[in-house]
Amino acid sequence: MYKYQLKPPFNDITSIKVLILYKFNGKVDIYLSIREADSMINPKYHLFICTSCRVNGKQQGLCYSKGSVDIVGSVMQEIEERDLSGEVMVNNTGCFGICDKGPIMVVYPQGVWYGNLTSDDIEEIFDKHIEGGEVVTRLQI
Ligand code: FES
Repeated sequence: MYKYQLKPPFNDITSIKVLILYKFNGKVDIYLSIREADSMINPKYHLFICTSCRVNGKQQGLCYSKGSVDIVGSVMQEIEERDLSGEVMVNNTGCFGICDKGPIMVVYPQGVWYGNLTSDDIEEIFDKHIEGGEVVTRLQI
């Protein structure tokens, strides 16, 4: 028996929308919206963005110094505005080992690597790749 019982219409986990706001690195508010929890087990797209996270929790490195935290914020904003929280999952990562091409984002299931990203590139990636199914070749590395 759970301590807290959800009442209809919230007793169906797939209908729950959870909005978590938290301060990311003291700089950016990140919105994590889980709309359909079941689909997150196997999202349509899974995005990994290097924010130069170290195992000790500190962020140090080229992607971080080149604004990757802002890119995570832009990605989260596109997900929210396009109502894609049930289809697109995003995680920030540690170094991919190709720092000179950072900031890096890898898009699965295709395994497409984008590099030298800025926040201005994110809208195009969502227009063409995430919603259009077409790789943005000018940003591909
Ligand atoms: S710090 Fe991002 S690839 Fe190395």
